[in-house]
Amino acid sequence: MIFVTGAAGMLGQDVVRAAGDAVALSRADLDVTDGAVVRRELAGADVVVNCAAWTDVDGAEEYPEEALAVNRDGARHVAEVANRVLYVSSDYVFDGEKRTPYVESDPTGPLQAYGRSKLAGEVATADANPRHFIVRSSWLFGAGGKNFVQTMLRLGRERDELRVVDDQIGCPTYTGHLADAIVRLVRTEDYGIHHLAGAGRCSWYRFAREIFDRAGVDCHVEPCSTAEYPLPARRPAWSVLGSERGHSLPRWQEGLDAYLAVRA
Ligand SMILES: NC(=O)c1ccc[n+]([C@@H]2O[C@H](COP(=O)([O-])OP(=O)(O)OC[C@H]3O[C@@H](n4cnc5c(N)ncnc54)[C@H](OP(=O)(O)O)[C@@H]3O)[C@@H](O)[C@H]2O)c1
Repeated sequence: MIFVTGAAGMLGQDVVRAAGDAVALSRADLDVTDGAVVRRELAGADVVVNCAAWTDVDGAEEYPEEALAVNRDGARHVAEVANRVLYVSSDYVFDGEKRTPYVESDPTGPLQAYGRSKLAGEVATADANPRHFIVRSSWLFGAGGKNFVQTMLRLGRERDELRVVDDQIGCPTYTGHLADAIVRLVRTEDYGIHHLAGAGRCSWYRFAREIFDRAGVDCHVEPCSTAEYPLPARRPAWSVLGSERGHSLPRWQEGLDAYLAVRA
């Protein structure tokens, strides 16, 4: 039986669906920052997929301790009690200086508080439990939460023209595809770090154009630079994930089609 924490989140919902008979624990059921609650609710759990996270990248700059409380301390609480654990991590553990895909053994170097908290969660999980899977993914979109595709579709219907950054390159990943791969992975004993992201790569600008083309939205998209669109947290210019362990998910365009079909 798979236990899922953060089960009401965007990825958590799809993991629950993919698992079929999971125990779904939302934040209201189980706050990962409360060690006593975690020990009580997860006692005897064979495998836990930990989808609970502080995911506000810019907010973490202002509240780094609060991000660490969930992403690091919460991860440790879960890893300590589970027999086997899967921690979901992020491409933002990398600094974005590379120009070929980041593989599992590449050195990390997060640029912002969110990435540091996710890296600390990886370390806490691995230290607490030798039977751990660390799954790094990127640029998630899915039916169960706020995401870039949803934002673009809303803005594209409100406006005739949009400017979208063209100098950050990554791998958009559909949570339905990621969740299927996560459920397959936790049924193995292939422990350690795994990169699971949509195949291919693009900039946010190219992603936005593809969204409008495939959804039939008539909105002109202009490329712009990150410098023209300043945010509190620095983002890596390149966070393309590859896998030296042979993983591959469907191409991000297939993920986009699947997402648009579910929305319809
Ligand atoms: N979104 C991305 O682009 C992206 C990219 C790479 C990796 N990831 C990673 O993928 C995982 C899933 O992300 P997501 O996009 O599905 O995020 P999400 O929709 O924000 O889901 C996170 C869930 O965790 C819950 N949560 C927050 N604090 C908690 C706590 N103290 N105890 C228990 N639950 C708590 C949230 O509940 P509330 O909503 O009530 O706060 C939410 O339901 C995260 O580990 C994230 O770091 C995401």
